Amino acid sequence: MSLPFSQACENNKAPILEILLRIFSESKHVLEIGSGTGQHAHFFAPRLPHLIWQTSDVEENLADIKRWLDICEAEQPKPLLLDMLKPVWPDNYDAVFSANTAHIMSWNLTEKMVRHVGANLPENGKFALYGPFNYDGTFTSESNERFEQWLKSVSLDRGIRDFERVNACAQEVGLELMEDNTMPANNRTLVWKKLGS
Ligand SMILES: C[S@@+](CC[C@H](N)C(=O)[O-])C[C@H]1O[C@@H](n2cnc3c(N)ncnc32)[C@H](O)[C@@H]1O
Repeated sequence: MSLPFSQACENNKAPILEILLRIFSESKHVLEIGSGTGQHAHFFAPRLPHLIWQTSDVEENLADIKRWLDICEAEQPKPLLLDMLKPVWPDNYDAVFSANTAHIMSWNLTEKMVRHVGANLPENGKFALYGPFNYDGTFTSESNERFEQWLKSVSLDRGIRDFERVNACAQEVGLELMEDNTMPANNRTLVWKKLGS
């Protein structure tokens, strides 16, 4: 049986790694939310050997993620069940990474994810969120506008989120925006740092 494969992951993994090498340079335990196929973890973990990379997702994706981890050069813990519908936060993580999840989860779940990250990261913990975002209520490209139409055709709960709305939610839970990185194909990598209480 062939491994699940995402071409988007193949295209974006190198540019994302460049950001992670910098922002997670002092981190130790990274929790990835919505690991999908597991391809990102498979690529990132051996290239960030100072980190323990913990994958997670909803139940139906865990077996496939494990198959990618099984052929990874770097040993990684087995994927965790972490569903934002009923999130039970795992042990202590000082960093969180999530790619292409905010436009797939409903806004309620996206908000819940940001709130959980903010509530559980320690002081100076980092949160990196990759994906497309709108600014001032506007798409950043025609292709993102078309992507939004496709998302809505699949489910009305899906949609490209407003950067300002996500960031306001992050600020409410003590996450301070450190970086907003322009990425290929009209995506961004947003990076927050948890402030002290
Ligand atoms: C477009 S895929 C992105 C996968 C991967 N991160 C990537 O960049 O290729 C969206 C991911 O969000 C996950 N997801 C959707 N609803 C979720 C939920 N309620 N809790 C956790 N993850 C969820 C899906 O299972 C899927 O892995």
